[in-house]
Order: sequence, then C-alpha cells, then structure tokens
Amino acid sequence: MAESSLRGKVALVTGASSGLGRSFALALAEAGAKVFLAARREEKLREVVDEILSAGGEAAYHVVDVRVVPALYDLVDVLLARFKRLDILVNNAGVGYRSPLLETRRSEIMEMLETDLAAAIYLSQASLNALLRAAPSDIVNVSSIAGLEGFAEGTVYCAAKSGLVGFTRALAQELKPANIRVTAICPGSIETDFFERFRPTLDRPQMLRPDDAVRALLYVLTSPPNVLHGEIVLRPRVV
Ligand SMILES: NC(=O)c1ccc[n+]([C@@H]2O[C@H](COP(=O)([O-])OP(=O)(O)OC[C@H]3O[C@@H](n4cnc5c(N)ncnc54)[C@H](OP(=O)(O)O)[C@@H]3O)[C@@H](O)[C@H]2O)c1
Repeated sequence: MAESSLRGKVALVTGASSGLGRSFALALAEAGAKVFLAARREEKLREVVDEILSAGGEAAYHVVDVRVVPALYDLVDVLLARFKRLDILVNNAGVGYRSPLLETRRSEIMEMLETDLAAAIYLSQASLNALLRAAPSDIVNVSSIAGLEGFAEGTVYCAAKSGLVGFTRALAQELKPANIRVTAICPGSIETDFFERFRPTLDRPQMLRPDDAVRALLYVLTSPPNVLHGEIVLRPRVV
C-alpha cells in the first residue's frame, strides 16, 4: 500500500481541530505517521487525538494560536521534545472573511494576513533545521484557488493565499538542493465549517469534500522525493 512510506514519519499539522486539518491528521495517522496536531480549541484537538489513539495510531496535540509568533517556535520545540524529529509540516490553519474591501474590518485584514500567510512563513522557518535533518522531507502549504485567481469580496483572503503560493514557489526553489519538497495545495470550495462562514449559499453536492484534499496530500507525500509537485489545484464542479 502506497501510504506505508509514511510509516514512522513525524507530521505537524496546524488547524487540526476541524475541517481539512482534522482529516489530514486522521489520514496521516492511518498511514502510519506520528501526528502532532496544533490549533486553539483544545477540546476538538483532544477528540481527534483520542480517535487516532483508539485506532492504534500515535498522536499528540499542542494548543497554539498561530498568530502568536514566539508560540510557533515553542511549538516546534515541544514537538521535538516529544517525537525527536520532524519529517512533514502541513501549514493548514486558515481563516477567511468575505466582504467588499471598504467594509472589511482592520482586525479581519490582520487576522487573515497573520493566519493564512505570516504563520506559515514563521512556522516553516521554525521547523527548517529539523526538516533539514530529516530530509527528504516535506512542507505542504494549504493555499486555495483564491491564491491563483482573484474574486470580488475576497481581496484580502486572495492576497494572503496568493502570498502563500509565492512563498511556496520561492521556498521550493531554495530548499530543492536540500531535498525538502515544498508544495501548495490549492482547493476550491470544500464542505467544511470554513465554507459555512465564507460562502454558505453554494450548491453543496457540487463542492469538494475534505477527503478530496486528503487524497492530494497523500499523493504529494507518498511521491518519491525526486518528484516535485509545485501546486496541486483541486476544482469543484462549481466555483
Ligand atoms: N473550505 C474551503 O472551501 C477551503 C478552500 C480552499 C482552501 N481552504 C483552506 O483550508 C484550510 C483549512 O480550512 P477548513 O476549510 O478546514 O476550515 P476550518 O474547519 O474552519 O478549519 C480551520 C482551522 O484553522 C485553525 N485556525 C484558525 N485560526 C487559527 C489560529 N489563529 N491559530 C491556530 N489555529 C487556527 C482552526 O482551529 P481553531 O479554531 O481550533 O484554532 C481550524 O482547525 C484553511 O487554510 C483554508 O483557508 C479551505
């Protein structure tokens, strides 16, 4: 089975308390990886970890607000104290507010830029020495189709997610010689709590499901290290 190449690897997943991050954590654990989950809602994190442990997997969590920069560096220290190595970083935590620019609050602008872009940059930096030691290793950044295309009332979200694509492309070049693969997964509308808030009117049966993103993640991570992916784009039948 292809996923067995993940057995024994250590993965850090941010935003693992719900939606895609939760599905990523469960799938990585099922594939044999040791998973370290990070987010703010402790109860939700505990539920996911308990589910992994009851299925015979290995996981732990750490409560973190990814907007607090020093906490990201602490997060990696705590992970290394527990698991001793880091092979896979999944920068997945994200928020989106949809509104015309004139009506977008400054607090929302800052929250999107810090959560969807800056946190991934800081956490990649914080993780880099461990990923270098573990190479071949992976950084996967969860961007969005909003990172590749602009849409009305999504200006700041698009800015943050396209910033994340730019960061991914440049870091992929920088880390290629070190055998660290850096990939962006760019999904369209996926049925999660996020989309409930972001665009609740969409035709649900046509949307992507978290499992669609899980397949993309496992495809990236189980590809041989000589295969680089750049961006994986997942489009639903509706946009
Ligand atoms: N759903 C979609 O249609 C869609 C499409 C394209 C891309 N995406 C991207 O996919 C990623 C996951 O979103 P989702 O759809 O799974 O939504 P979700 O269910 O709302 O999950 C978002 C996750 O991010 C975490 N998070 C948010 N702010 C955080 C903070 N300051 N510190 C730590 N964790 C934080 C949340 O955890 P806590 O609240 O517990 O902290 C939660 O686990 C996001 O980056 C999103 O932009 C989603």
